[in-house]
Amino acid sequence: MVPDLNADTTIDLRSDTVTKPTIAMRAAMAEAEVGDDVYGEDPAVNRLEAFAAEIFGREGAIFVPTGTMGNQIAIRLHTQHGQEVICESRAHILDWEMAMVSAFSGCMPRTVAGERGVLTWERIQAAIAPKTYYRAQTGLIALENSHNMAGGTVTPLDVYEEIWSGARDAGLPTHLDGARVFNASVALGIPVAELTSGFSSVMFCLSKGLCAPVGSMLVGSRRWIERARSVRKMLGGGMRQAGVLAAAGLIALEEMPKRLHEDHANAKLLAERMAELKQVEIDLATVQTNIVIFKLRGVADVTPVLAKMKERGVIAGAAATDQVRFVTHNDVDRAACERAAAVAAEVITAIG
Ligand SMILES: Cc1ncc(COP(=O)(O)O)c(C=O)c1O
Repeated sequence: MVPDLNADTTIDLRSDTVTKPTIAMRAAMAEAEVGDDVYGEDPAVNRLEAFAAEIFGREGAIFVPTGTMGNQIAIRLHTQHGQEVICESRAHILDWEMAMVSAFSGCMPRTVAGERGVLTWERIQAAIAPKTYYRAQTGLIALENSHNMAGGTVTPLDVYEEIWSGARDAGLPTHLDGARVFNASVALGIPVAELTSGFSSVMFCLSKGLCAPVGSMLVGSRRWIERARSVRKMLGGGMRQAGVLAAAGLIALEEMPKRLHEDHANAKLLAERMAELKQVEIDLATVQTNIVIFKLRGVADVTPVLAKMKERGVIAGAAATDQVRFVTHNDVDRAACERAAAVAAEVITAIG
């Protein structure tokens, strides 16, 4: 009998990365059949990679320790030094990946602002470098779905279809940072394979809303994934008996996407409660998945507000100095979200 190691009275809404592996994951990890994955001999990793490729309708997949490593392997493979990477102005690859677009791939991010984080072909096309010898050339279009810093907003399929077609005509590869692509898929009611079919490569995380303790996947063509194995090794990401992690990843992929709608409903509840407060500035239209971002009128730094919530057992994050962020996930149920909304409302109302 595995004890319930997840029992905790604190309501942690900082991120879906705080999710702990489920009891079923812990049991599968304990029993995982493993081998040396650098030799390609870990049965659980091989099963996970085959399953991820199948779900995304691709030839190949590779298990990587983090989403950041997956994105950066992809950027390195799609580009050449001295090129530009088009991305949204608050993209994760820009703000949270340690300048690796430049440091590792030798490229410059060319940022484009999207409406609620959604980039259209029209905006992307305008940012593609003219084909002339005296301009750095565009090497890659890198997009994000759902868009974390825009509040978990979702890019619909028709927007992508136009981008895929435009990028193909322009001869440019496309990469999706799909850290939370299952959230986007659930919100849109479209399978991940269809929602991502036109991207050259896709990274998605097992370790966020899907609750695996560690790991992300990169999917693409067989040949491209073989090249990704070398870059993963360059970065020190060749793992040995990684099957203990892949075993949890398999359950994450099989079982967890089907419950994500609960997180979305809980985020909506939190957002609606916050919107009732006169101190709160929130764009409810951005609350499409499991993320809620809002500002407090006249408050330039939310740190003291977050500290007061924490004293009362509710931990929230800051998306920027002046923005509170709540992220719902498997370890906070409806009752916890009701309690968090009540605590947040009391703290915020006390601001005056
Ligand atoms: C949109 C997005 N992409 C990539 C990542 C990177 O994932 P990791 O923390 O596993 O490196 C994150 C993590 O929060 C994310 O939100």
